[in-house]
Amino acid sequence: MTSSDRTSYAVGFADLDDEVVVDLLPVAGAFPQWLSGTLLRTGPAKFDVGRQTMNHWFDGLAMLHRFGFVEGRVSYRNRFLRSQSFCEAEATHAVQRREFATDPCRTLFQRVASIFSPKFTDNCNVNVDALGGKMVAFTETTLPVRFDAETLETLGCFDIGPQVGGSITTAHLHHDAARACRYSYVVAFGRRSRYRLFSIADANGSERVVAEMPVDRPAYMHSFAMTERYLMLAEFPLIVDPLRLLLDFEPFIRNYRWTPERGLRFHVFEKDSGRLVKTLQTDPVFAFHHVNAFEDGEDIILDLVAYRDAGIIDQLYLARLRAGEAVDATGLLTRYVIVLDGSGKVSARRINDTMIELPRIDYDRVAGRPYRHVWGVGRRTAGGFLDCIVKIDLTTGAAQTWWQEHCYPGEPVFVPAPGRTAEGEGVLLSVVLDAQRGLSFLLVLDAQTLAEVARAACPHHIPFGFHGNYFPQARGAD
Ligand SMILES: [Fe+2]
Repeated sequence: MTSSDRTSYAVGFADLDDEVVVDLLPVAGAFPQWLSGTLLRTGPAKFDVGRQTMNHWFDGLAMLHRFGFVEGRVSYRNRFLRSQSFCEAEATHAVQRREFATDPCRTLFQRVASIFSPKFTDNCNVNVDALGGKMVAFTETTLPVRFDAETLETLGCFDIGPQVGGSITTAHLHHDAARACRYSYVVAFGRRSRYRLFSIADANGSERVVAEMPVDRPAYMHSFAMTERYLMLAEFPLIVDPLRLLLDFEPFIRNYRWTPERGLRFHVFEKDSGRLVKTLQTDPVFAFHHVNAFEDGEDIILDLVAYRDAGIIDQLYLARLRAGEAVDATGLLTRYVIVLDGSGKVSARRINDTMIELPRIDYDRVAGRPYRHVWGVGRRTAGGFLDCIVKIDLTTGAAQTWWQEHCYPGEPVFVPAPGRTAEGEGVLLSVVLDAQRGLSFLLVLDAQTLAEVARAACPHHIPFGFHGNYFPQARGAD
């Protein structure tokens, strides 16, 4: 099959303007009776703002999607996040804030005279999570936005305290059940820029700075790693001179430079003391997503989805995607062994040759601990877009896939079955675009076999998004 035989995935990058409330979606198969909760997702849904079109997939204005599950029935609603970015764009029919790869239109005079210095975006189209009892949407700036988990109504900003500060953060927080907190980090730009790791208490949302380190040229980092004792920053060699960001002549990500001679640096911090235990260097790669990490004696095993370089960012510019061009940069599950003893060293090996992205694990059971199973989206054929769900067995390297002709699945969110006795007993929830019909559906797969359990038909296409989470009934409310 050639790429021209396939229905283009480009419909997944068409704007969705409708906001709907559907009490009962048509269902095929049977949703598990035990599935009682909410899948909340965010993603870009509006790329065309007035006469301006966003440059990049990561720039689209955020829309929230909510799938509710009760006794085999499925409800759905969607709503734009009324962030400041969204409201200002709606009011003026123009982009007003600095998105990932799109800046507001300004004349050269305005740029040089700094008459109009736009703020960083609060367009939280990357992930959702519950923080201190509040439901929060995230982008990669330190401007998360609260919303109501039932109505999807926007409730205002989620304040990150001044002691944490920073401009850039991650939308992939880690949860430490033993310490009853989440961990995150910020990048604070300045005369002396800093990485700052911090925790947020589950009970009351209080923040505590865990560690910080100075950095001359901060890296673009989308996620980080956690074991039982350690937090690790993987500093990819896509780095920025903070002065370039300040001068603001180019959109945010275009100020970063691929500098492979720096290699990939792992910074290992002890959670409890905040001590920088070690910095180790190895061959350069780029990654968005860590998968998991754990301790093996005094070594750390760290898995991430590695690309040869940062070219994947360039492949995700909107004009390419709307033209249905191939995204052929290949992310591969790669295992690093970080030896903390003595002078320390790092070794790397690929788990297999199966493309994977948007990786998920049985998080509640195995985060920071030894584990076996990874799920994600993959690509069956070269020269296309992410078109299958992949399960990789880390013990054997074996890969299984689910796919359907003309269909493009999103991130598979693992939901554990109640009373499960082993890792991976449960289901996957994935929003799938049927490009031929121009409609999306919510797919339920058995997480162990990837056999289809059920699907629920959505009333429209859902533009390709990034991340979401499942919240059991008791934890779903704001
Ligand atoms: Fe991500």
